[in-house]
Amino acid sequence: MADLSRISTVLTPSLIRMHLTTLSRQIAATPLARAAALPVRLATVARHNARVLKRSGTWLVRSREHSCFTYDLEASNHDHLCWFVSNVTGAPVRSVRGYVREAEGDTELRQTLNAGLAGSVRSGTCDHQVRYGRRVAYYALVRALGPEHVVEAGPHRGISSTLIAAALLRNGRGRLTTVDIDPRAGELVSGPYRQVVDQMIGDSVEILGSPQVHERGVDMVLLDTSVGPEHEDAELMAVAPALTEQAVALSSRSHAWPCLARWSEEHGRRFLHFDDRPRDHWHPGNGFGVSFPLSAPV
Ligand SMILES: C[S@@+](CC[C@H](N)C(=O)[O-])C[C@H]1O[C@@H](n2cnc3c(N)ncnc32)[C@H](O)[C@@H]1O
Repeated sequence: MADLSRISTVLTPSLIRMHLTTLSRQIAATPLARAAALPVRLATVARHNARVLKRSGTWLVRSREHSCFTYDLEASNHDHLCWFVSNVTGAPVRSVRGYVREAEGDTELRQTLNAGLAGSVRSGTCDHQVRYGRRVAYYALVRALGPEHVVEAGPHRGISSTLIAAALLRNGRGRLTTVDIDPRAGELVSGPYRQVVDQMIGDSVEILGSPQVHERGVDMVLLDTSVGPEHEDAELMAVAPALTEQAVALSSRSHAWPCLARWSEEHGRRFLHFDDRPRDHWHPGNGFGVSFPLSAPV
């Protein structure tokens, strides 16, 4: 009887757990640990890959995009984007959230873009419901900074261009110059948004360094041609003399290329990168970098 009660004490679940913990701690310090943890590791990576595979399959069936992917952001990432813009501009985060809501809730803006996507010369390779993702930050930056002249290199269809134009219209001042090597570029910029946009066709380095751009000065430049790091270095060199004292420079390739960060350091500026996290999409995200003056209010 005494023995049985001793056995039942020994086998209580908490004691079993304690023994297993002690055992696994002992194994963790041996070369066996890696093999022992293999089933758990396999299950973790398989769960992750299954999620990516499911999203990839859904995207392959539902989306028509093959480049310049559009996606929404995960909820927490969306709020971090507001904090990011707030820190770069010094605008209270409440105001930035207001700008973002203003853009996302603007029915005319959304309808113009959706109609443009459906009727685009490239409608077969684009989705017909616009998704702003990180591009809404460009809208908020323009609303918070009130630039007179914005330049965008590589507008592609013109989703960012239209968002920037909408922000300029709300500000009641400022113009956007876009430059793209593809004559079809910017096809979504239509309706009222066209009034504040000057579309130029040509090589970005040439146009960023041209008298048309330099005579007006540049308060905000967005580099999104994605040609290569040497090209982005050349774009920065071409536009630098035109930048006004408080100008901000953005790059959509700063997750991959060091150009904007290096240029910021060389020019005594601040640099920050925002990493975006796509919602329900296989794409890992790009984000964008911002170079801004040292005197900015971080
Ligand atoms: C990655 S896409 C831009 C994406 C777009 N800004 C968006 O938000 O969806 C790159 C664009 O740069 C343009 N491009 C490529 N090389 C260029 C160059 N040397 N000069 C000007 N535009 C260029 C392409 O035609 C294309 O429209």
